[in-house]
Amino acid sequence: MDEKFLWGSATASYQCEGAWNVDVKAESMWDRYLHENDLENGDVASDHYHRFEEDIRMMKEGGQNSYRFSLSWPRIIKNKEGDINEKGIKFYHRLLDACHKYDIEPFVTIYHWDLPQYWEDEGGWVNPQVAYAFEHLAKVCFEHFGEKVQNWTTFNEPKWFIVNGYFIGNYPPGLQDVQKTMIGAYNVMLASALGVRAFRAGNYQGQIGIVHSYTPVNGIDDTIETKIAMRYADNYCNNWILDTAALGEFPIDLVAKLAQDYDISFMKTEELKIMKENTVDFIGLNYYARTLVKPYTEGETQLVFNHSGKKGESKVVIKDWFEQVKDPNSEFTEWDTEIYPKGLQDGLIEAWIRYQLPIYVTENGVGVREDVTVAQVNDDYRISFMNDHINAIMNAMDYGVDVRGYYAWASFDLYSWKNGVEKRYGLVAVDFKKDQIRKPKASYHWYKEIIESQGKKIQRRALD
Ligand code: BG6
Repeated sequence: MDEKFLWGSATASYQCEGAWNVDVKAESMWDRYLHENDLENGDVASDHYHRFEEDIRMMKEGGQNSYRFSLSWPRIIKNKEGDINEKGIKFYHRLLDACHKYDIEPFVTIYHWDLPQYWEDEGGWVNPQVAYAFEHLAKVCFEHFGEKVQNWTTFNEPKWFIVNGYFIGNYPPGLQDVQKTMIGAYNVMLASALGVRAFRAGNYQGQIGIVHSYTPVNGIDDTIETKIAMRYADNYCNNWILDTAALGEFPIDLVAKLAQDYDISFMKTEELKIMKENTVDFIGLNYYARTLVKPYTEGETQLVFNHSGKKGESKVVIKDWFEQVKDPNSEFTEWDTEIYPKGLQDGLIEAWIRYQLPIYVTENGVGVREDVTVAQVNDDYRISFMNDHINAIMNAMDYGVDVRGYYAWASFDLYSWKNGVEKRYGLVAVDFKKDQIRKPKASYHWYKEIIESQGKKIQRRALD
C-alpha cells in the first residue's frame, strides 16, 4: 500500500445526521415509512448534523485520511420542481470544509437511500422521471461542491435498496412486486449513467464510480446444476449492477430469462445507449459476506431477513433459480451474516478480472450489540474481523488487483436501518442515551496503528 491509499471510514446521511426536519429539509421516504409504522427511526441518529466537526477531527486523530459520506437529497432539493435549499448546500460546504481542514479526503455518495417523499408520492423509483430528477440533483452537487470533491459515487448499493424495497418488502416502499423491482432497477441504473454523463459533460475534476453491495457467489459443489444456480445468483446479487455500471450492459441471459415471464418494454433503446456510453471510472465494493448457493429444489420464493438479531431467521430461496445455504463450518453474527474474509479476496480478484477497473472497498465491518457505558469498548472481535479482511485485500493486491482504498463501516455508531441503533458498527462508540457522548473503541486505536504502518502491521496469512 502506498501513501496514496485511502484509509477511511464511512457513514450515510440518514443513518447519522439526525436533524430530520431542520433547516428546511424535506421529508424523506424513510422519515415517512418509519414514522407511519411507528418504528425506531433516525430523527436524531448520531446527531452528526451538529457534531460533524468533532467526528471529522476524531477521524484525523485516528490516523484516517478519507471520509466516505452521503448527501441527503431532501436536504438539498426542496421540491419536485428542483428548487435548491441553500441551507442544505451550506451544511455540506461546512462539512467539506471540515474535511479539508483536517486533511481528510472526502469520498462522496450522491444517493444513499433517502429519496424525498415528494418523489416517493409520484411512484418513487418505478417512475422514470425520478431518474431524471436524480440527474438534476447530481448536477447541483457537482456545480456546488465540485471544487471540494475528487471522488464521487452516484449510488450506494442499488441492489440492496431496490430488492429490499420492491421485492422483499422490508424497506420502504415495502412492496413485493417483481415487475416493479425490474423497473426500479432499470431506472436506478439509468439514473447512475445520467449522473456519470453530467459529470463528464461538466468537466469536473476527479473521478466518478458506483458502490455495490458485493456478495461474491460460491457453490456447494462443482456440478453443472450448481454452476447454473451460481449464475442465477450472481445475476441477481451482482451482475445487473456491476456489468451495467462498468461495461454498460445488463447481463443478456438475465434479460432473456426475465423477458420470458415479464414485460420488459420499459427498456428503451435511447436509454440503453446512455448506459452503454457512460460507464464508471472505478467501482466501490461494500463487503460483508458472500452468497453460498445450491440448485433450487422446491417451494415458493422465500426472502426472509433477520432484523431482530436472533440467529437463524434469515432465508433466501428464489423459485427456479437458486437457494442460499449456510456453511456449517462458518461463524455467523447474531444477524446471520457469515464471517468469511476469503470471499473478499476471491471477489476482488473476480471483479478485477471481469472489469479491469480500480476498486475501493467502500464498506466493511461487523455489527454487534455492545455496552458503550464502559470507559472503552474492547472490541477485539472487530479488530480481528478488520485484520482478516484487510489481509484478504492485501492478498488480492499481491495477485495484482488495483485496490485504492478501504473504508471501515462505520466511522462511529449510527442508526442501522431496520435494526435500529442496537446493532453497532462504529470505530467510535456513541452513547445514544447519554448526550451522544463519543468514545473511541479499541478498534479505533488499532486501526490508527495499521494506517501508520501502511498495512505492515496486519497479521498476514494465505486464504485457501
Ligand atoms: C450496507 C449499507 O448495506 O450495509 C449501510 O450501505 C448499512 O447503509 C450496512 O448500514 C450494514 O447493514 P445493516 O443493515 O446491518 O445496517
